[in-house]
Amino acid sequence: MARPALAQQLFNQMMALFHEGDLSPLPHRVFDAHQVIDAFRTMQQAKHIGKLVVNMQTVQPPVSQPVHARLVLSGNGTWLVTGGVAGFGLETARWLTSRGVRHLVLVSRRGMHTPGAAQLLAEFAAQGVQADISACDVADESAVQALLHRIGASMPPLEGIVHAAMVLDDALMAQLTADRYANVLRPKAGGALVLHQLTQHLPLKYFILYSSVTTLIGNAGQANYVAANALLENLAQHRRAQGLPALCVGWGPIDDAGYLTRHQAVKDSLAARLGAAALKTQDALHMLEILLLHDVGVATVADFDWATLARLLPSSNEPRFESLRRHVGQAGQAGNADDFASRIAGKTPDEVQSMVYQLVREQVAQILCSMPDKINPGQPLHDMGLDSLMGVELALALEKSTGVRLPAMLLNEGPTVEKLVARIVEKLQTGEAASAQPSLGELVSQVVAQHGEHLSNEELAQTVQAVAQHITQEGRV
Ligand SMILES: NC(=O)c1ccc[n+]([C@@H]2O[C@H](COP(=O)([O-])OP(=O)(O)OC[C@H]3O[C@@H](n4cnc5c(N)ncnc54)[C@H](OP(=O)(O)O)[C@@H]3O)[C@@H](O)[C@H]2O)c1
Repeated sequence: MARPALAQQLFNQMMALFHEGDLSPLPHRVFDAHQVIDAFRTMQQAKHIGKLVVNMQTVQPPVSQPVHARLVLSGNGTWLVTGGVAGFGLETARWLTSRGVRHLVLVSRRGMHTPGAAQLLAEFAAQGVQADISACDVADESAVQALLHRIGASMPPLEGIVHAAMVLDDALMAQLTADRYANVLRPKAGGALVLHQLTQHLPLKYFILYSSVTTLIGNAGQANYVAANALLENLAQHRRAQGLPALCVGWGPIDDAGYLTRHQAVKDSLAARLGAAALKTQDALHMLEILLLHDVGVATVADFDWATLARLLPSSNEPRFESLRRHVGQAGQAGNADDFASRIAGKTPDEVQSMVYQLVREQVAQILCSMPDKINPGQPLHDMGLDSLMGVELALALEKSTGVRLPAMLLNEGPTVEKLVARIVEKLQTGEAASAQPSLGELVSQVVAQHGEHLSNEELAQTVQAVAQHITQEGRV
């Protein structure tokens, strides 16, 4: 800045005029930083009046980013871990001690009758940790009340609870009786409610509930488990609305502790469905640390490949997965070209036609922020509001999904969904896949040639940046 003092003086004068109401801001719409893609999309579709503002103050560090801060827990409080004598609950208890906890109460129905319980006491004692292992049915209100009285009388104040107790009783819905629902709901949901009700008056700092990724994606044969976990997520939200601490984590499959270590076939089928291996306990607990550090209320922590999962997930096109679809840069069932080639292998021409049709409609819908069934296959894309920049995006997305190269400026040819489908199917049949990629410069100059004279310098720069960003995300430069 050449004259900082003058700039500061002018800026101060201007702000004073704003405060006095002599000046008012231009019409504008504010997007949180995590909605920046929506902001560009709005600008791209010319839906805005005035300015679009991206508010950087609302930026939350994405939880997927590594965070180097370490959670420090007090050694002067007691933690209660239900289901904490074995499995993932026990691993969580061990992790708590690595973060400073020195007083643990681990409960399960078997308590000290759990194999290895005596060794556990010795293990914790050797670390200077006071551990109590008790038999307590967490859904039994009077048993939990008695446990809390005992903790109150003999241990430091209760500071945190991890509710990891669970029982599974899987069956397809037709076979699920009231008893089979109760078997699963009682320890998980019933136990969570008992803990919530009996500790509301205590100054707890942490109340952690273990749920499952299946609450998000469903799982045939686990309606009772999903229902129980759904209650946990709602309880966490309810508690936070009341100003009480709560975190509910929907875990993906855990590889090296708990239920799946006893059920390899279930682990394998979950891995196939999710397209990724189960989580290692230490990685899961690292994510727990990040969630606690950021005071997150409800989260899902799971490794999966969206293209694989989406293929088997009937709800993959629902709005609740919209941000995920965008984040991953894929539309609904779209995968990569190899994936698509394997899906169409052996299919009849009609079946291929219908798969391509579905894919094109989904991609167009995603770019237009609409639903696939709202896309009229006979209407020119241009008339639906797809401009040339969106056309570039569509061509790239379809090329990536099918391997068929389409002209980056395909809108110039006035296509409809039907024409696009016919073109892709024809190229798939003749085996003509993507060849040389158009360069970034080529794409940008095409867009500039088409739009340049209608855009301000600022808009032009943003457009070029958006194309570059998109292409970079797609791994094209
Ligand atoms: N393991 C995974 O892959 C996975 C994935 C997603 C979510 N999770 C969640 O993580 C938590 C732990 O899973 P896990 O795999 O470690 O399960 P697990 O090995 O089956 O352990 C569950 C524990 O809960 C105890 N328990 C059952 N009913 C109880 C009750 N009424 N009162 C007190 N304790 C009770 C059991 O001990 P007793 O039989 O002695 O009572 C057992 O030690 C669960 O909440 C689960 O939903 C796990």
